[in-house]
Amino acid sequence: MRIIVTGKGGTGKTTLAASLGFQLSDLGYRVTLLDADSYPNLAQSLGLPREVSEKLVPLTRNDELIRERTGAAPGDGWGLFFSLTPKVDDLVEKLGVKVNENMQLVVVGGIEEPKEGCMCPAIALAKVFLRHVLLTQRDIVIVDSEAGLEAFGRGLAEYFDTGICVAEPTIKSLDACRKIFSMSEELDVKENILVVNKVKEYSPVEKLLGRVFADIPPFFVAHYDPLVERNEESGLGVENIRNSAFWRDVESISKYLIRGR
Ligand SMILES: Nc1ncnc2c1ncn2[C@@H]1O[C@H](COP(=O)(O)OP(=O)(O)OP(=O)(O)O)[C@@H](O)[C@H]1O
Ligand SMILES: [Mg+2]
Repeated sequence: MRIIVTGKGGTGKTTLAASLGFQLSDLGYRVTLLDADSYPNLAQSLGLPREVSEKLVPLTRNDELIRERTGAAPGDGWGLFFSLTPKVDDLVEKLGVKVNENMQLVVVGGIEEPKEGCMCPAIALAKVFLRHVLLTQRDIVIVDSEAGLEAFGRGLAEYFDTGICVAEPTIKSLDACRKIFSMSEELDVKENILVVNKVKEYSPVEKLLGRVFADIPPFFVAHYDPLVERNEESGLGVENIRNSAFWRDVESISKYLIRGR
């Protein structure tokens, strides 16, 4: 199963991706988490020790590796030729960090192309790598991405079975998910789920959904839980919030994702 977690900034994508990762790996699934954020911080949410997380160089910033694999590196200038079919089949092994017996993390970094639309060697390598992982990893792949699905584009987005969009209970945040869902459908992502996170009061949520969506998508609600925030402030991983209301809400999502498996 291939899952991509998207949504507006600060809605809880990383917290959700990490929590799903733990819950699904606890159930015995092999989980590969890919951090495709330009400011990657999934490692912290997974509670990896600082010595480990600080040393993780995102694939898209690993100039030496980019040069080795594509023949070009950031800053090499315009108009150069580089390989669009770089070798990537050893990179999970090389870059992956073990989180627990069943779960590993690979920090990819942002994959949004600059406005000029150049296909930079770093992004080309990241996309070939992502495709490889989506095609080959066993069980479950979860991608945490600030970028919309259009950044993945054709030839990559359609490998996702499930798009999870995380929104706060506001019109703006939900509207971002509405746009992401329509792009996601266009790009043939099989299923879209909405997670309304940080909910303090349930009753306004349905009304808000009705205002934003002509057809309300399948959705889950996750409570606002001060434990989550405090835990983050203390720099701890989500494993420490196993007793929170948020964790229980995420359990319903985990259960839904593995239904029929
Ligand atoms: N259900 C919740 N209750 C309370 N706080 C939450 C909840 N979910 C997430 N948060 C807090 O919201 C903040 C943002 O969460 P997170 O980093 O997961 O969001 P994000 O969407 O990944 O952000 P970014 O766009 O910066 O990557 C964090 O401080 C996190 O602890
Ligand atoms: Mg994040």
